[in-house]
Amino acid sequence: MSQQHPRPESPHPSAPVAPGTLAVTAGRPPRVQGGPVNPPVVLSSTYVSAGDPTGARLYARMGTETWEPFEEAVAALEGARHGIVLGSGMAAIAAALGDLSADDVVVVPRHSYQATLGFLDDRAARRGVEVRRVDIADTDAVVTALDGATVLLAESPTNPMLEVADLPRLLAAARERGVRTVVDNTFATPLGQRPLALGADVVVHSATKYLAGHSDVVLGVVVTDDDEAAADIRAYRTMHGAIAGPMEVYLALRGLRTLHLRVERANANAAELATRLAGHPAVVEVRHPSLPTDPGHERAAAQMTGFGGIIGLRPAGGAAGADALVDALRLWVPATSLGGVESTLERRRRFATESVTVPEDLLRMSVGIEDVEDLWADLAQALDTLVRRAGRHPRP
Ligand SMILES: Cc1ncc(COP(=O)(O)O)c(C=O)c1O
Repeated sequence: MSQQHPRPESPHPSAPVAPGTLAVTAGRPPRVQGGPVNPPVVLSSTYVSAGDPTGARLYARMGTETWEPFEEAVAALEGARHGIVLGSGMAAIAAALGDLSADDVVVVPRHSYQATLGFLDDRAARRGVEVRRVDIADTDAVVTALDGATVLLAESPTNPMLEVADLPRLLAAARERGVRTVVDNTFATPLGQRPLALGADVVVHSATKYLAGHSDVVLGVVVTDDDEAAADIRAYRTMHGAIAGPMEVYLALRGLRTLHLRVERANANAAELATRLAGHPAVVEVRHPSLPTDPGHERAAAQMTGFGGIIGLRPAGGAAGADALVDALRLWVPATSLGGVESTLERRRRFATESVTVPEDLLRMSVGIEDVEDLWADLAQALDTLVRRAGRHPRP
């Protein structure tokens, strides 16, 4: 049962294997005559076991051969030694944070994924954990908040405001102060940034999003180079039972094989649409790190590979305008979640749990891999309805 994952060897001895090649090759079974090219999916809750159980597979909550190829592939993409799959992104975050107590002080972006903030608020209420919500783009303020903290749980870019953190500086400052660091890399994907190389202790993903990529599974994964952290997270997974089903892991690995193609296309589509949206008269604000005017542009250009596939859009007409835009779209799917092949969007403040500092009219758009002209044609016709609407209800 391998728990640490060697990376596939490069065919060019002096060069590392490129990420796109890793996405395709990592986690394959050994090459043996007559063996399968893909890892088999094992549907068994228990394993043959008699007498001393040490070292043998025993029970599927503790580990299965279906998890390992996916874990190995994600670990390879993140440049990590350990990958640990869990039943959802939230399970991955909970496992990475471990059992927080009243001694813990967690620093977290104020615009993190709302369920992450909800989880921390719950820990604050039930366990007395201190939670310090920060503007993650304000590096000096975050460094100040790290004094006396025990954990930095960073998202970059943030969901849904797309703020970009100065990860190298924040992770170094955390290390100097003995603060444990967890980075949620869901938005960037391992192709956009590798936080372990920037100094993070642990990286988490909602694999539900880009890693699996087809909106057909809910799954999470943690990666780390730290043997002790990996052992703790595996023990947490076994104890809490937040495990992944074999079919979900199969689908996620299948999706992962095309991660580089999907991300490349989604990023290119998003950059093009962001530029066109920024020039449209029915648009108040566009957030996408590719735009030279975006507050996160320079930082993203310096520390990321690609600007991501998520756009923040504030159309004319406030929350009602945003809702009207969503209603007028035909190709874009109104849905929560992100990172699938299909383009989706939603107004985040429709959730009472979303941070109040997120604008009421902000649409989070997850750009898919469709033809960009079709995506634009749909947006343009929906934006035109806003222009007509404004004509009917002219502002005083
Ligand atoms: C950035 C981020 N982290 C974590 C999660 C939670 O993942 P899951 O829904 O797989 O539990 C999400 C879900 O939207 C997310 O966007």
